[in-house]
Amino acid sequence: MFNSLKFKISITAFLIISVIMTLSTWRDIKETERKLLEGQKEKVVLLSERISHSIMVLMLKNRWQDLQAFLESMTNDSRELRSIRISEPDKGVIVASSTRQDIGGHINRRDRDMFNKKAINDAYLTEKNAQGFASKLTVIQNQTICHRCHGSEKEILGVMGVDISLDEVYKSINQFQKERLLDAAMGFLMIGGGFMLVIGLLIDRPIKKMIRIIRRIEGGDLSARMEEDKKDEFGLMAKSFNSMLESLDAAKQEIEMCHSEQMQRAAKLASLGEIISGIAHEIKNPLTGISCAVQVFQSEMSEDDSRKAVTTEILNHIKRLDRTVKDLLNYAKPKPPNFLALNINDALNKAVFFVYPEAKKQNVSIDTIVEGEIPDIMMDPDQMQQVFLNLMINAVQAMPDGGKLKITTLKSDIDKEEHIEIIKLLHGEKAVIVRFEDTGKGIEGEYLNSIFDPFFTKKSKGTGLGLAISRRIIHEHGGEIDVESKVGKGSVFSIYLPLMQKREGV
Ligand SMILES: Nc1ncnc2c1ncn2[C@@H]1O[C@H](COP(=O)(O)OP(=O)(O)O)[C@@H](O)[C@H]1O
Ligand SMILES: [Mg+2]
Repeated sequence: MFNSLKFKISITAFLIISVIMTLSTWRDIKETERKLLEGQKEKVVLLSERISHSIMVLMLKNRWQDLQAFLESMTNDSRELRSIRISEPDKGVIVASSTRQDIGGHINRRDRDMFNKKAINDAYLTEKNAQGFASKLTVIQNQTICHRCHGSEKEILGVMGVDISLDEVYKSINQFQKERLLDAAMGFLMIGGGFMLVIGLLIDRPIKKMIRIIRRIEGGDLSARMEEDKKDEFGLMAKSFNSMLESLDAAKQEIEMCHSEQMQRAAKLASLGEIISGIAHEIKNPLTGISCAVQVFQSEMSEDDSRKAVTTEILNHIKRLDRTVKDLLNYAKPKPPNFLALNINDALNKAVFFVYPEAKKQNVSIDTIVEGEIPDIMMDPDQMQQVFLNLMINAVQAMPDGGKLKITTLKSDIDKEEHIEIIKLLHGEKAVIVRFEDTGKGIEGEYLNSIFDPFFTKKSKGTGLGLAISRRIIHEHGGEIDVESKVGKGSVFSIYLPLMQKREGV
């Protein structure tokens, strides 16, 4: 809840709204307070003028004995007017006041200060006995018409102070404050609520919908799709998401298809392997029997017996059959490799030794080149020899009219661009490479992917197992084999064997 996007956006918006509203409400309240207080000051100025005028009239009519009653009636008749007092200018002794008991006392300190500062034209705010007032001092000048009673010596006859209460103003301010705060709270709730509603509709709801779809997809239902009807960012997101799902769905289907094909193939090969090894064993024993019998026949024949050519031919066929059966058995029931740390060139030289007579017969020259130091690697020498033999026999068979077979052994080099791919292929491991280059007839592009398949052969007497067995042996050594070929020019078979083998016990 506290981590949800809705909560975070709402809390931010609430904070911003509340700061703005508090500031504007505070400013409004202060401004109104100022205006109301200014109003009271203006009021006290006007009142002072009116009262001083009335006092003047009383004086001129010689009714000064009515002054006290006039002051009292003024304050009694008004709710706001609280005090009118007249003091003599020198010592500030009160000579007349709306509050009788003040007469003879001194005016208060603030009034005195204001008089001394000659701030007599302006009204001011003051506090007496914890009550607020707007006050104004008015100087009563000794005018010519006053001279007949007061003489002409004094310039100022007296100072009149008028106070009007601020109680009502403060009440209004309080009331206004309450109303504004209530308004602000209401506004805050309405804006906040509206905001939450809008966020809910525009952001929260679409996001929740998306999350529901994503959960379905997580649950494996790749057919789920987001609604693309919105024209905003959510619509765009839904579109991209859906197209991503399309590709994902297609890829998944492809993988499933590929997987089921592979499974079928593996199942087929496994059952084929069982059948083959059964049949091969059935053939192998009678074959040995036939071979022995024919040899016995042959030994009984004289040197110039014309049937001897026939029995030799039979024996050759039996040998070929035997080899095929061995290949079949090897493919169907492979032995696990027996790893030893050896130099690959030893196995290679042995294989060359076996193939050499056949190659010579066909006018094929074999060159072996070793580039640099070749470190020992972990390998099964018999199996590796079989791989080399298969590749060399294929090469020789691809050159019926003679040619050249160049075999190069080298170490992979991270600095050589063409080796980077190999190192990647072997997950960053360094490799020993053995490359077989022939000048034979080459392989058509369409067959390049099939030649490693078991039983793929283009030869009338071939089994199609040589490359399949070789590839399996190389894989069991943690390595890789690949081929490049140009029809009419020749083929290059490369074997990559990792220098380090991460095998248990090695
Ligand atoms: N060096 C090569 N040059 C041309 N074709 C080749 C070469 N090596 C293999 N092939 C092709 O690959 C096929 C499969 O080879 P392999 O698995 O050894 O079976 P087989 O030799 O019994 O046919 C061969 O029939 C041949 O067409
Ligand atoms: Mg072969």
